[in-house]
Amino acid sequence: MQQHHERPNSERGGVVVLDFGGQYTQLIARRIREQEVFSSVLPCTTTLDEIRKLEPSGIVLSGGPSSVYDPQAPKCDVNVLALGIPVLGICYGMQWLTHHLGGKVEPAKRREYGSAVLSIENTTHKSELFAAFPESLRIWNSHGDHVVGLPPGFRTVGRTQNAIAAVEDPQRKIYAVEFHPEVRHTDRGTEILRNFLFRVCKAEKKWSGAAFIEETTETIRAKVGNSRVICALSGGVDSTVAAMLVHRGIGDRLTNIFVNTGLLRKNEFEHTLEMLRDRLGLRVIGVDASERFLAQLKGVTEPERKRKLIGAEFISVFADKAMELQQQEAHGEIAYLVQGTLYPDVIESVSVKGPSATIKTHHNVGGLPEKMPFALIEPLRDLFKDEVRRIGRDLGLPNELLVKHPFPGPGLAVRVLGEVTAESLVTLREADAVVVEEIRRAGLYEKVWQAFAVLLPVRSVGVMGDYRTYGLTIAVRVVESEDAMTADWVRLPGDVLERISTRIVNEVPGVTRVVYDISSKPPGTIEWE
Ligand code: XMP
Repeated sequence: MQQHHERPNSERGGVVVLDFGGQYTQLIARRIREQEVFSSVLPCTTTLDEIRKLEPSGIVLSGGPSSVYDPQAPKCDVNVLALGIPVLGICYGMQWLTHHLGGKVEPAKRREYGSAVLSIENTTHKSELFAAFPESLRIWNSHGDHVVGLPPGFRTVGRTQNAIAAVEDPQRKIYAVEFHPEVRHTDRGTEILRNFLFRVCKAEKKWSGAAFIEETTETIRAKVGNSRVICALSGGVDSTVAAMLVHRGIGDRLTNIFVNTGLLRKNEFEHTLEMLRDRLGLRVIGVDASERFLAQLKGVTEPERKRKLIGAEFISVFADKAMELQQQEAHGEIAYLVQGTLYPDVIESVSVKGPSATIKTHHNVGGLPEKMPFALIEPLRDLFKDEVRRIGRDLGLPNELLVKHPFPGPGLAVRVLGEVTAESLVTLREADAVVVEEIRRAGLYEKVWQAFAVLLPVRSVGVMGDYRTYGLTIAVRVVESEDAMTADWVRLPGDVLERISTRIVNEVPGVTRVVYDISSKPPGTIEWE
């Protein structure tokens, strides 16, 4: 799917976002796709030839954390500015192109961050980017250097109090803004992007969920040929949508393996297996490996070690099953592995293209492919969760599955703090079921991103009846988020919190205290480990 020469029709004429390592880079691509124009992110080092092959109607140069004066500053081929394809530089992208076209960029002493007011100079020159805009606009900044001198042919079309904030050379169709039109904090940011797409690039609206499904299915069919494919299905939206796309392309030549790690939620394994098989018609093999995972986790308390062990065990269980299948399959070799990897998994797991640090090891991304003789099919790799949900809806997946909260690959193991044992899992599973049930009952399940329980490794003193207790503590975590990159805790109504707390203490043996997690991300992550 990542081979550019195979790009389907609806992706031609899209916009290439060249990544200089900015934290909002993928958001730019997503905002463009929201306008029904295809967009994908490529490393800034992509060659001109590769860019040309995509037949883009426009190129965006992303932001990034560097200064153009850093010796290690990311660079792209300056000739992208001479391809005759319209360019929009954002933040670092603006500084980079100004610097390379003969303008002057001044290193700033400190980063300018946050909200500012942009004054648009639309009276003397009519800027296509700000067509029909008011004279001033609230925008969102996050940059270090400033542009202080324009390259030949350029003019200033917007300023903030401190800096030149928007420049353009309409002749060469090169535009640049120092702020971030892709974030919601910039007023009319989407309109700026729309003006770039439709007024400057003359892009056509031809990318949609239906086109994505058709073309992805076709690409998979062509790529797979007569081979067989396997998929590690988790029952979540991502892997299910990925499997459905492949199933549409090649039918039962796709075999799905669903591993019970013993770290799933209450009744999750049985329930999901039935839905995947009976309602979706997928060919699924269920493997119960609970004991193997528990044995691996014995005595382990360190979070990253847990994640790595679970990842390794998962690979091992999966590989055993895959090899067994390989020997059984009479008609054709298993050559591919499907994964429901999404963009946020990619960015948080490996530093792919930019300098974003590894935060946690995600077991569904790292590991599997290197250890096995399969090539990867990752149809959702460029997408965000809500985009995948939309595709899932178009594929006819049941609502229950579409609205299901994300669940981490290492499962309850990263929600039992400290050592994971069979007993601690039972406690957590029961408490977690109460949280989810009460959130559903309050009509909040579809409004929040995730709701779950965490079992803490502390005991506290309490009193129940006439007895002193020294019991377990459950933390309740309910967050709202758009894409898991940032999240906020949900201000749950007091009566919902009360029911959750009372029920957990009454129904889950050993638990005597319930606390509510009021940390946002950042600085806290959503999961506790
Ligand atoms: P954090 O805890 O990093 O989580 O804020 C962000 C989102 O990712 C989920 N998560 C995972 N998903 N495999 C997954 O598929 C994993 O290893 C994993 N770890 C965290 C988490 O539930 C949240 O939605």
